Amino acid sequence: MIEKATNMNPVSRIITLTITSALLVFLAQCNFAGNESGIHFFLDMHDSPAVESQEEDPSTLDEIYTGTYEKTMGSLESWGGPGSASRTAPEGTVPRNKDPYLIPAADFDQAANELRNPLRPTKEVLELGQKKYNTYCAVCHGNTGMGDGPVTPRFADIPALAGPESLVLNWEDGRIFHIITVGRARMRPYAAQTTEEERWAIIHYINLLQKQGQ
Ligand code: HEC
Repeated sequence: MIEKATNMNPVSRIITLTITSALLVFLAQCNFAGNESGIHFFLDMHDSPAVESQEEDPSTLDEIYTGTYEKTMGSLESWGGPGSASRTAPEGTVPRNKDPYLIPAADFDQAANELRNPLRPTKEVLELGQKKYNTYCAVCHGNTGMGDGPVTPRFADIPALAGPESLVLNWEDGRIFHIITVGRARMRPYAAQTTEEERWAIIHYINLLQKQGQ
């Protein structure tokens, strides 16, 4: 072999040498112990540009902005529009430790029949309910639930949740839970602002306001 190699012409010798050294370099990155990753030639896949969710992500700028903030980067949707790193969660994604709410928005009866208030109206629960009610509901429905919150002159026809006229008096807890969770018409959903527990606490507090209003 060696004799033959020495007889090679210079060009073949260079080629052989190049191939041999390339092979050696290539093999040098192998590591059978498995705890080191050897030599890396192309770093792109290792050091991919990672952006924090609040940072600008220039890769979402690559599609021409057409006036809608919907689609960027092919099929990836960027929640904050072009340039934003905040991506909309893919459809069907369920956050950890969260039960998806599967009752259709229009199905108030299903909610009324299936959902039961898991909390007892203890002092703590009522206080929590009061706090959350005053934070999120009272602006419209009023501190005592009479539908007379501070926005009422500008926001017409806000229903009373308590008082003798209120239609909510004979609403099941599940029905109220449903409207807080998914909303209805001009009443927006408050699922993003309140936890399920807080919603059930609000409902106990509304029941209390209803008793006081009678
Ligand atoms: C921005 C004003 C506003 C806020 C804040 C608001 N609501 Fe409402 N709510 C409304 C309006 C308007 C309606 C009537 C919706 C409709 O027309 O279907 C309504 C309807 C309701 C109903 C049904 C009343 C009925 O007679 O049909 C309930 C129950 C209710 N809201 C509870 C709540 C609770 C609990 C909160 C706080 C988590 C809340 N609302 C926050 C405006 C508001």
